[in-house]
Amino acid sequence: MTFRSGRLKTPVLFDINLEIRHSEFVAIMGPSGCGKSTLMHILGLMLSPTSGKVYLDGCETSILRKNGRSLLRREKIGFVFQRFNLLPTLTARQNIAIAERIRGHQLDGQISNALESVGMADKAHYKPGQLSIGQQQRIAIARAISHRPELILADEPTGNLDSANSERILQLFREVHQQSGVTVVMITHSPSAARWADRVVRMTDGKILND
Ligand SMILES: Nc1ncnc2c1ncn2[C@@H]1O[C@H](COP(=O)(O)OP(=O)(O)OP(=O)(O)O)[C@@H](O)[C@H]1O
Ligand SMILES: [Mg+2]
Repeated sequence: MTFRSGRLKTPVLFDINLEIRHSEFVAIMGPSGCGKSTLMHILGLMLSPTSGKVYLDGCETSILRKNGRSLLRREKIGFVFQRFNLLPTLTARQNIAIAERIRGHQLDGQISNALESVGMADKAHYKPGQLSIGQQQRIAIARAISHRPELILADEPTGNLDSANSERILQLFREVHQQSGVTVVMITHSPSAARWADRVVRMTDGKILND
């Protein structure tokens, strides 16, 4: 698969050939700007490759309409964005609830559990602007896991956390991965975070260096 970005068609990803198996815990590492987030957006069906194919659960995703891809993404994937993408006017709980409502779920218990599991139960009624960056990151993680996705795509999920909270999040990913066989793909710059994964994919300059 290759990807060229923007109107100038700047090449970002070249000859990417990556298979992630069900129930794997994979870390993606590589220098800033090498294309990790872009690859993650393609895995999360938010971007389409310029050439090549993306399969999810055996389904070739380019044959789906935009709506079909959105539906698949909403149901199967939990995405932790590098910049969190929380809605500023909503509280932490509402940020999670709105994602659930779009899915047609209304599971207050699951939202509370998700907030609890990232250590943010007591800040449920705070808005993103009233939270520290690390706390916002934990809300973004709670939002990604609350619907119990089959695939968690997390873009530097511990990038803003202290060591105790990093450990908590990695432990959480490990637990959902071991208990329910969730597939986890996590971008990280931290070798100690990558050690939690079963497999490390290294990228450089838009290519996979080794796997
Ligand atoms: N919308 C865009 N238009 C043009 N180029 C883009 C666009 N988005 C990303 N790029 C380019 O793609 C390359 C890869 O960006 P990407 O965000 O995937 O890197 P990254 O590996 O996630 O970096 P970091 O570790 O800093 O988050 C960069 O050179 C960037 O300039
Ligand atoms: Mg990035």
